[in-house]
Amino acid sequence: MSALNKEYKRVTVKSLVEMKSNDEKISMLTAYDYTMAKIVDNAGIDVILVGDSASNVMAGHETTLPITLDQMIYHASGVVRAAKRALIVVDLPFGSYQSDPKEALRSSIRIMKESGGHAVKLEGGKEIKDSIKKILNAGIPVMGHLGLTPQSIYKFGTYTVRAKEEEEAEKLIQDALFLEKSGCFAIVLEKVPASLAKKVASKLTIPIIGIGAGNGVDGQVLVLHDLLGMTHEFNPRFLRRYLNLHDLMTEAVGNYVKDVKAVDFPNESEQY
Ligand code: KIV
Repeated sequence: MSALNKEYKRVTVKSLVEMKSNDEKISMLTAYDYTMAKIVDNAGIDVILVGDSASNVMAGHETTLPITLDQMIYHASGVVRAAKRALIVVDLPFGSYQSDPKEALRSSIRIMKESGGHAVKLEGGKEIKDSIKKILNAGIPVMGHLGLTPQSIYKFGTYTVRAKEEEEAEKLIQDALFLEKSGCFAIVLEKVPASLAKKVASKLTIPIIGIGAGNGVDGQVLVLHDLLGMTHEFNPRFLRRYLNLHDLMTEAVGNYVKDVKAVDFPNESEQY
């Protein structure tokens, strides 16, 4: 931590805006369970996202669409029990907020009451304006998510970079301005050209947290299991792996299997 950076006992939505105005970058990672969240929180992360990527990472689904509100609440509850410093943002899963604003509010209230999370995140811009307003009016902080929005994968057809063309880039800028004006406290910008992300970050006073959006934004987010190298098949250009836990864990489990077969485990000192 640099001497310029303020230490926060608990990061809040206000702290994030303060970080942006102090030019302090925001660190954000996903976590979906108690044990991982404890490690991430102790390491000093600013924001933990209980992402609907749990659908892929924890449950093995191909997309984020199948995960349910009950499952998100289950994941978020463990994270809330673990994290003492980070702000905890919970994704509203597909189908829990798109159909009507009242349902969006009901889903958000369930997340806040049943998991103890501090804020919700949802995907989209003006098309879901009534839902965003309804949630914000109830005093629930909302994080937006623009660019590549995985809940709309079947509309896009691919996970490639979004907003490369002028028209889509302009719509994204308008949506970001709209989310800020509506009262969202931050926006995730996923897989868009770095120059566009930088432009959005400089136009807005609320923080822009990027994933595959370059370093001209106010913070970065990654999926924890990707950063740790537990996932193997997913290799986008934006991903930096800090460990190869996949191989380390495979070796450790392989050694355990070998020791059990060889009656080397447990040894004298490992029994009663
Ligand atoms: O669900 C998730 O993990 C996310 C991040 C990729 C931002 O939304």
